[in-house]
Amino acid sequence: MTTPQDPMVHVIDHPLVQHKLTLMRDKAASTTSFRTLLNELSMLMAYEVTRDMPMQEVEIETPLETMTAKVIDGKKLALVSILRAGTGILDGFLSVVPGARVGHIGLYRDPATLKAVEYYFKMPKDMPERDVVVVDPMLATGHSAIAAITRIKVLNPKSIKFVCLLTCPEGVKALREAHPDVPIYTAAIDRQLNSHGYILPGLGDAGDRIFGTQ
Ligand code: URA
Repeated sequence: MTTPQDPMVHVIDHPLVQHKLTLMRDKAASTTSFRTLLNELSMLMAYEVTRDMPMQEVEIETPLETMTAKVIDGKKLALVSILRAGTGILDGFLSVVPGARVGHIGLYRDPATLKAVEYYFKMPKDMPERDVVVVDPMLATGHSAIAAITRIKVLNPKSIKFVCLLTCPEGVKALREAHPDVPIYTAAIDRQLNSHGYILPGLGDAGDRIFGTQ
């Protein structure tokens, strides 16, 4: 589903996605269940995000006869995870599209400026032939997503999509303004950002909740 105002912002409001997101938001959710739910939710989101993926025809033999059938060329897809929390979504996507190539970009948030600072960048080769899906659970200030996409665009991929679990009006506005050609896929747009760059009501620090580091 898309938001009525902006066809480039897709809010995936499927009941299974919303149900799992609610369970994840609960502060009582354990690290194990948070991680499991994120994995399941990412698989469900991948279904929506890959809806328009190009297909190719191959010849196969069923037990009865030869036929021409369609397959996705997963090798043309590059999933780019923004470290470290992006790993949580990446795993779910890879379960569904195991042939995808994977890139990583390491960005940390400067606590004073909230700006993204790059410390790692490794992409698959042949990026101009690839459709890229950038994943990061939280689109908050938008600084990391904007910096990651700006960097990836230098490699001239065929297309870029951005996938997060949760965002807020501030994050959507920032990313749409910086990269109007990049569609956003999310499970929810929450109320607002707080002064520390956290989404309200949100789900807390996604990285800490995935890895149990708090
Ligand atoms: N990153 C998080 O992990 N949580 C937020 O609410 C915002 C950014």
